[in-house]
Amino acid sequence: MSSSYRHILVTGGAGFIGSHLVRMLLARPVARVTNVDKLTYAGNPANLADIAGDPRYHFVHLDIADLRLRAVLRENPPDAIINVAAETHVDRAIADPLVFARTDVLGTQNLLECAREIGVRRFVQVSTDEVYGSISEGAATEDSPLQPGNPYSASKAGGDLLCLSYANTYGLAVSVCRGANTYGPHQYPEKFIPLAITNLLTGQPVPLYGDGRQRRDWLYVLDHCAGILTVLEKGVPGEVYNIAAEQERENREILARLLALLDAPDEAVRRVTDRPGHDRRYAMDADKLRALGWSPKKPVEVGLAETVDWYRQHSKWWQSIRQGDAFIAYYARQYPMLPPLA
Ligand code: NAD
Ligand code: DAU
Repeated sequence: MSSSYRHILVTGGAGFIGSHLVRMLLARPVARVTNVDKLTYAGNPANLADIAGDPRYHFVHLDIADLRLRAVLRENPPDAIINVAAETHVDRAIADPLVFARTDVLGTQNLLECAREIGVRRFVQVSTDEVYGSISEGAATEDSPLQPGNPYSASKAGGDLLCLSYANTYGLAVSVCRGANTYGPHQYPEKFIPLAITNLLTGQPVPLYGDGRQRRDWLYVLDHCAGILTVLEKGVPGEVYNIAAEQERENREILARLLALLDAPDEAVRRVTDRPGHDRRYAMDADKLRALGWSPKKPVEVGLAETVDWYRQHSKWWQSIRQGDAFIAYYARQYPMLPPLA
């Protein structure tokens, strides 16, 4: 796909989804991609090591909630913005929710103000299926009510509503996309799938929350990025688009598949106390985005096998995170019932 935008600003480009998105954009004939990232625990320049020397790529180390962002954007105005940056982990939101409102709500609004001031042609907000809350039957459409059930999803819902209000009030060309649970290479190893893989590769037990029968719709990261870029190119301002893989699995099924792929015994699974307020099921209907020509390509069983291979082949990448003091301390706080990592 060619791009109608010359200079695209991606926020959070040093994280999991953002780094794949930056790479996908640079594979197109764009003139410039600017990545604004605060480099929190989840931001890792190594995720972009392969493209760091591309003269079209520019990195700005900044918080999206920082008012100095305006000067940065004024100096080199992008014609499109994709807001990927966020605090993203539900477990961290439960333990320490304030920074979620700061980044996911205030940071989003600061970026919207910058976009308004410089007059960007397009703004895409990357959001989540979690804003619909737990779905007992059927699948959420873009018109379903927002019923976020934890401080992360509530903050993301706040960001979505601000985006839609800027489209309505100021005519800013904002679209919101809501992605399902995403997995693949370069995912920070405290999230469910990479934590399970890296624990199994290092002989550690894998924590499974509650009864493990929570259902999630697993979306491969490149399918997610292709969906975001479809919304960038073809989405209607003021509209919301679900990016769903439409392949739900129970958490315990995902874990059983990983045990099989890594030849690990059932005893490697350790049932632990459930997450407070744990949403039971997420499910979205993606017909609206399919109508724009997008569809998910990766079956989850294939994607899981490829992801396991990637983590097997890139142990340096995840070992350097897992062996750091911050990761070890996080793990000890989050999983006091499991053997410590160091
Ligand atoms: P991640 O946690 O891997 O990366 C987040 C990135 O944002 C990091 O590079 C971090 O340094 C940066 N960041 C955080 N706060 C910032 C701030 N205040 N200013 C600038 N940069 C900041 O996240 P991810 O899993 O890649 O998720 C990316 C986006 O996709 C988020 O908006 C998230 O809500 C959404 N999303 C994620 C998933 C998923 O399953 N991972 C699913 C649906 C939607
Ligand atoms: O649904 C989309 C969301 O998916 C995104 O918006 C978030 O940014 C992303 O982080 C993810 O949500 P969670 O933060 O809940 O992801 P996590 O990988 O922690 O959990 C996925 C499921 O696995 C969830 O039902 C909880 C369960 N789980 C998680 C961990 C870390 C376990 O059973 N054991 C674990 O050790």
